[in-house]
Amino acid sequence: PVEVKKICCIGAGYVGGPTCAVIPHIQVTIVDLNQQRIDAWNSDTLPIYEPGLDEVVKAARGKNLFFSTDVDKAIEEADLIFVSVNTPTKKSGIGAGFAADLKFLQLATRRIAEVAKSSKIVVEKSTVPCRTADAMRTILEANSKPGCHFDILSNPEFLAEGTAIEDLFGPDRVLIGSLQTEQGLSACQSLANVYANWVPRERILTVGLWSSELSKLAANAMLAQRISSVNALSAICEATGANIDEVAYAVGKDTRMGSKFLKASVGFGGSCFQKDILNLVYLSESLHLPEVAKYWRAVVEMNEYQKSRFANKVVNTLFNTITGKKIAILGWAFKKDTGDTRESPSITLANHFLTEKARIDIYDPQVTESQIWLDLTDYGDIPAEPIKPHVKISETVEEACKNAEAIVICTEWDEFKTLDWQKIYDNCPRPAFVFDGRLILDRKALTDIGFKVISIGTGDRI
Ligand code: NAI
Repeated sequence: PVEVKKICCIGAGYVGGPTCAVIPHIQVTIVDLNQQRIDAWNSDTLPIYEPGLDEVVKAARGKNLFFSTDVDKAIEEADLIFVSVNTPTKKSGIGAGFAADLKFLQLATRRIAEVAKSSKIVVEKSTVPCRTADAMRTILEANSKPGCHFDILSNPEFLAEGTAIEDLFGPDRVLIGSLQTEQGLSACQSLANVYANWVPRERILTVGLWSSELSKLAANAMLAQRISSVNALSAICEATGANIDEVAYAVGKDTRMGSKFLKASVGFGGSCFQKDILNLVYLSESLHLPEVAKYWRAVVEMNEYQKSRFANKVVNTLFNTITGKKIAILGWAFKKDTGDTRESPSITLANHFLTEKARIDIYDPQVTESQIWLDLTDYGDIPAEPIKPHVKISETVEEACKNAEAIVICTEWDEFKTLDWQKIYDNCPRPAFVFDGRLILDRKALTDIGFKVISIGTGDRI
């Protein structure tokens, strides 16, 4: 196998940045077309928040880790190229709303073919539909210079935002898919040798290209399916007097199941789960498997239902109207320990409350005010002016909650568990409602203070 001495990573996002920052010794250049993002990676304020990321980047930057917008130079110099560009759900055309938009991936691939003057190993790190490597190979071979050979590997990323650095240093597994030809297997070994610098060999799994591509979609579909299953059960709990935390605890103790990913909530968010399931739905339909498509689609539908069920519960509890009432939204990120807001349930809830003509006051420890406005206006598609009088963004929880008729926990930030709830209560009108969309609060302590606490998956029936 070729010894990898220089790596290029195309796409300096949530995946490209952290994954490459943990690679020891080997020279890695992460490139992006977005100048602002590269400038941020080269500054003291990195473009993404992730626990431990600052330390890792600052230790390696300028030594073996470089960030640049000079895509061509980095491609030319590298032996191995990770492609970590975004693959969002298509917004228009065939497969709109379901299929992955592969334009960024194809542009990056074309660039590699046009610029490369020597053979390269090209690694799909982005999450892609099954058999995308085939299309990449066609693009590369049709545009390459004589004598340049490209091996394509699939190496999906399993990190979770919020624990990315921990996940990358100690992954459950690294998955590499290759063609089962001599060339393919040799390229696979080259990449496995890179990971072997810090990952035990038995955790580096090597499989066929298509299995590798499909495994990423499968993993996300099954993780999301657990959340939708527990959320579906939470609705039954509310109607019966069962308690979802107790049910999940009892179920999760079964070693065939395990306890992770069984927390009921307002619903899952993030850039991946919904997009990857819809991608799987589209794939199933393309393969003439409508029943399979329907099965996975239900996971997304259950998530939508959970969000609207929770929003309706807020309205119903506030005596069927929230018009003109102030609602505090605690947490805007799609989960704790990240500043990422893509597909965050908070956005859905905020829109619901605004439609009901409530006034919302938002607090999040990591998300910037400008990001919240981008989300509320769907990146400029919805005019900001009409909603401006109804939206406030606060610097502190206390400010957001002051005079609020309802406090809604949307993100499970640890700091929400240890707030001075008595002080918050003193500044709220009565009855003071708290809606725990993440099941993180001490229900008894808050009830003792005087709050009316409404949680997911616990009803009033005793
Ligand atoms: P991102 O949007 O944060 O980053 C992608 C970057 O690629 C952007 O900065 C964009 O400017 C850049 N880019 C796009 N086209 C380019 C081109 N032709 N040349 C150079 N740069 C280009 O996306 P993120 O979250 O890092 O996701 C990347 C891929 O990884 C997606 O396929 C996603 O599904 C997958 N993934 C994401 C995970 C996550 O937790 N965010 C986890 C595992 C996989």
